[in-house]
Amino acid sequence: MHLVHLRLRDFRNYARLDVELGPGFHLFIGDNAQGKTNILEAIYLLATLRSFRGVGSAQMVRHGARGYFVGGQWMAEVAHDVKMYWSMRERSLTMDEQPVRRLSEYYGRLRCVVFCTEDLQLVKGASKIRRRFLDLLLAQTQPGYLTALQRYVHALQSRNALLKRPDADPALMAPFTQELITAGSLLMERRRALVPELSTLAKQAYARISLDAEELRLTYAPSVKADFAVELAQAMARERVLRATTVGPHRDDLQMQLNERSAAQFSSEGQKRTLAIALKMAQAEFLTGLTGVPPILLIDDVMGELDARRRAGLMPLLERTEHRRGQVLMTCTQENWPRDLGRSLHRWEVRAAHLRAAAPSPATGESALHG
Ligand SMILES: Nc1ncnc2c1ncn2[C@@H]1O[C@H](COP(=O)(O)OP(=O)(O)OP(=O)(O)O)[C@@H](O)[C@H]1O
Ligand SMILES: [Mg+2]
Repeated sequence: MHLVHLRLRDFRNYARLDVELGPGFHLFIGDNAQGKTNILEAIYLLATLRSFRGVGSAQMVRHGARGYFVGGQWMAEVAHDVKMYWSMRERSLTMDEQPVRRLSEYYGRLRCVVFCTEDLQLVKGASKIRRRFLDLLLAQTQPGYLTALQRYVHALQSRNALLKRPDADPALMAPFTQELITAGSLLMERRRALVPELSTLAKQAYARISLDAEELRLTYAPSVKADFAVELAQAMARERVLRATTVGPHRDDLQMQLNERSAAQFSSEGQKRTLAIALKMAQAEFLTGLTGVPPILLIDDVMGELDARRRAGLMPLLERTEHRRGQVLMTCTQENWPRDLGRSLHRWEVRAAHLRAAAPSPATGESALHG
């Protein structure tokens, strides 16, 4: 799978951009604040309808403009075309000239995995971030998951609204409780099935990148221990005090351990970074395993943060994607661009929201390119 064409209008610092991209390895090089990350953000937005920076659409509209447009064409078995427009007043999403009516029909068509500095929060941050990671992967791959998630969130909000009332009536809550159990059980079942598989892939990726003996393990830590209905009933008194639903998959977590110890608590910064990358690599491998086609890898600023040994460990993983006719899009500044990147490489210079295809110069290691 690869992105063939990207078109931006009034997106971030881009007034307009039209770029053709082939499969393979693309490197976006430029100084700080030129527009490298913005390109990856736009592609990720096409795939998931959200920014990996966790911001709303208003922030992505170019300063002074009314709305943004992001369009793209990607090649899977056949080519698909997507157009997205957003403004305060109007928003539209079309695929192959047809309006997208249900998100569940669109999700998972264009598959991207992003590697960015925010990924560190997967290890360090709140459990919500890890749930979102699991949800995004499951929504992209498991039919029915996104619908169940939407139903669950809706029931949870309604139930919590009732719990906030002083006279919370159990009879009024019953249908939402039932919905919570039905939709929530599906979420838990799918998460439980996913995590061991993901754990194996992440462990392999971690070992390849770090070349260390320490062993990574991911464990699903569900909020519901045995029976959702029973545990909800038992929590009723507490819920009334806290005025919120206290058990359920909205309280699940994904535990990460290095050599049997909590990675969040005991690992070094470098280990946490490696772990975050391993999680994303596992996500990519999982998607590849399911479909036989590697997702597009969007790699933002990650290389500069790894030591040379870890960088060398990551390279073969990226090369695998490239060899399978996948696409890797990576950003870096002049200073931290990994010169160990040899081979056929498309270099793009990014300067003040303009892209220029750059020929490999002797300074970038001609010999490595041919050797
Ligand atoms: N909504 C917006 N409208 C106009 N410009 C914006 C908007 N949002 C961000 N920018 C600007 O876009 C520029 C490029 O941002 P981007 O994050 O892509 O930089 P970058 O090339 O990745 O830099 P770095 O190497 O520092 O990560 C920045 O100057 C930023 O302030
Ligand atoms: Mg950047």
